[in-house]
Amino acid sequence: MTLDEAFDAEAFRATGHRWVDTIADYLQRASDGAMPVLPFVPPAEMLARVDGEFPETPGDDPLALLERVLENSNHLHHPRYIGHQVATVLPQSVFVEATNALLNNGMAVYEMGQMQTAMERRVVAYLSQLIGFPEGADGVLTHGGSVGNLTALLAARQAKADYDVWTEGQREPFAVLVSEQAHYCVARAVQVMGWGAGGAVPVATDDAFRVTTNGLEAALAKARDDGRRVLAVVASSCTTATGSFDPLEDIAAFCQGHDLWLHVDGAHGASMAFSETHRDRLRGIENADSVVWDLHKLASLPALVTAVLFRDGQRSYESFAQEASYLFEEVDPATEWIDIGRRTLECTKRGLGVTSYAMLRTYGTRFFGEIVDRLVGLTRELAELLRREDDFEIATEPETNILCFRRNVDGDRDAWNRAARERLLKSGDFYIVQTTLRGEAWLRVTVMNPRTGAGDLRALVRVLREG
Ligand SMILES: Cc1ncc(COP(=O)(O)O)c(C=O)c1O
Repeated sequence: MTLDEAFDAEAFRATGHRWVDTIADYLQRASDGAMPVLPFVPPAEMLARVDGEFPETPGDDPLALLERVLENSNHLHHPRYIGHQVATVLPQSVFVEATNALLNNGMAVYEMGQMQTAMERRVVAYLSQLIGFPEGADGVLTHGGSVGNLTALLAARQAKADYDVWTEGQREPFAVLVSEQAHYCVARAVQVMGWGAGGAVPVATDDAFRVTTNGLEAALAKARDDGRRVLAVVASSCTTATGSFDPLEDIAAFCQGHDLWLHVDGAHGASMAFSETHRDRLRGIENADSVVWDLHKLASLPALVTAVLFRDGQRSYESFAQEASYLFEEVDPATEWIDIGRRTLECTKRGLGVTSYAMLRTYGTRFFGEIVDRLVGLTRELAELLRREDDFEIATEPETNILCFRRNVDGDRDAWNRAARERLLKSGDFYIVQTTLRGEAWLRVTVMNPRTGAGDLRALVRVLREG
């Protein structure tokens, strides 16, 4: 193919038609469970299968390559994929994503993504309203919850430090209080900010893996004894391992009492707001100063799209209180929202708002509540099933679509459960994961695919027991 042909619309059309057929066939087979969930290949063998030579002249057919990728991937549309909390993607969102890729409107400045910017603003406003934020709330979309949490904590630091930390650098050791069960990216964000390993002070949790006010008081005292100035509390809505929701009303009262910023890591659980049945889990979220919300988890959108929402929208300008004059000319406060690059770690950014906007408009907001209801319902069914079996136990009642459980066997229970997960991984019958809770091994599932059925869940118990 020549250089000109490579950019030619007709050549694209021809491949495109074949591509749609390839993807649709794949989707059908994955949804029917007509393949192993993960055709597991050890890393060295996989590397050997992927040729490291790049030809000087035209080589592979892109579709033939893609077919190999399809065959060798973890199949999230398989009804027996119940592992990590990554969305089973709405197939129609792929068209939007492909269009985004072609347009490549980078979004750092308004002109490089005018409609993308407007759509992002509408999505951010809608999500803010859904969690009960007042008029004046605002935020941005970023690539993932890890970047989102860092973005929010940078704003928290700037807001609570009483001086311009961004410009002057920090004069004292800061800290945030965060559940011992929180996702590791919170501690990582703190270390990126230079606060060291002690900058994320762990808060003890109760039997259901939720922080308590007593735990917060103890962590605050400990941080102060260690000579740290605490700026914020990070609440988990919900925790990654067990899907436990921290009590936001209590935490908000604690933050108010101690003049602390309240950040809610709702990467996984904020989507519960879509569901009339389950949104109560988020009671108190409207009091947060900032919230992170991944739409590529419970909202079935492709990775990565994360909303970082601020109750006071002006705070969203504090994360990166930096100007790049060649990009951002002096702006009118009324239109300062338009240059999203002022408020994101990313300079060039995919049109994240387009996919979320398009899917919310295409399916309607109630549909996203139905996804949540279905997934939570299936997870409760699994918990119920396991409760009826003498040899299984669950770690805690599922509050969302995450469940940890284990089989009680004679002998080394941890080793048995770890080996069982390894067997499942290698067999391709199911994809589930494992976690360690209070030093013990547990199996962990996250039901992500609305087309997983009760029969699949019964089969999981059977397959685990049969070994
Ligand atoms: C609670 C929580 N926060 C943050 C993250 C990180 O999000 P991302 O993978 O989008 O960076 C995760 C990921 O699983 C999570 O569960």
